[in-house]
Amino acid sequence: MTDVDLLRQESLNAIAACISSAALEEQRVALLGKKGKITEALKTLGGVDAKTRKTLGAALNEIKNDITIAIEAKKAALFSQELNARLASEKIDVTLPAQPIQQGRIHPVSQVIEEITAIFAELGFSVADGPDIEDDDHNFTALNIPESHPARQMHDTFYLQGNGDGKTLLRTHTSPVQIRTMRAGKPPFRILAPGATYRCDSDITHTPMFHQVEGFVIDKNIHMGHLKGCIVEFLKTFFELDNVPVRFRPSFFPFTEPSAEVDIGCKRSRDELKIGEGSDWLEIMGCGMVHPSVLKNCGIDPNEWQGFAFGMGVERLAMLKYGIPDLRTFFESDARWLKHYGFDPLHIPSLVGGL
Ligand code: DAH
Repeated sequence: MTDVDLLRQESLNAIAACISSAALEEQRVALLGKKGKITEALKTLGGVDAKTRKTLGAALNEIKNDITIAIEAKKAALFSQELNARLASEKIDVTLPAQPIQQGRIHPVSQVIEEITAIFAELGFSVADGPDIEDDDHNFTALNIPESHPARQMHDTFYLQGNGDGKTLLRTHTSPVQIRTMRAGKPPFRILAPGATYRCDSDITHTPMFHQVEGFVIDKNIHMGHLKGCIVEFLKTFFELDNVPVRFRPSFFPFTEPSAEVDIGCKRSRDELKIGEGSDWLEIMGCGMVHPSVLKNCGIDPNEWQGFAFGMGVERLAMLKYGIPDLRTFFESDARWLKHYGFDPLHIPSLVGGL
């Protein structure tokens, strides 16, 4: 066997003998690295005569090639071997009995969604949902927010690659569920749609993912009095107050006309916020009468049907009701936080037991 054949054989044997990715990497460096055997051998070519250089050079390059291919193949084999070993060693037995239930806590977001849903269920609403990944039409256009409408800039939208047409996005609000529900059914509607929403925004009062509850009613002869009654009733029950100061302040949303923002009376002091008393106001939701164009976009005749809609932020309501000071802590998955602010599944607030 010539030296070159020997070098080739030894190298391939060494690669084949590697039993881990780390060992293989070491072997690769030992062969092809800056000071590797093959690299060193190639360096000697400069010192030999032209004829030898030609044959020896070709042979060495061929070895280098074979080694590279062998290393790649070995790498792939070791990878799947190691993955299988990990999968086998890290498997869990899902049939084991659960830990004592007191360990678990209901997250305030889930709890508040439950409470809101329970209150509106009493008022005759049923729950609907829609996808988190939406298209431009449901999230914007059908809601009377055409392309180039300034309202689009107010939603810091996460666009997805989708079909490459720039039309797939993470829904920026729960309002697209209005469109989906109206297009799929026939009026009247009395719908509540809780769910996750997304905006490219992150600071003390914003997280890129948050939750909203959307509500809407479409029926005959619906007017703002119904909207007001419904919202006031909700706030009274949610905050457990017989008399809650509520203010409807004119505002703008493209999908409602007229539009309003709802403020709730409160008292703000240095480090406390009391709902229901004092002379300060706190914005709590957006609402309005569903815009005729939105109804038309869903095939509903606005001369025959009218309705109102509202949308509120779940985390904000949870913070106010349960005195949670920092929004960002909601999604840090800190077990101590959840133990403190979460709800014992066996003692959750309910409409019957008190919210
Ligand atoms: N979609 C609005 C937002 O996220 C909230 C909203 C306002 C929803 C008014 C409504 C409404 O249904 O009528 O900012």
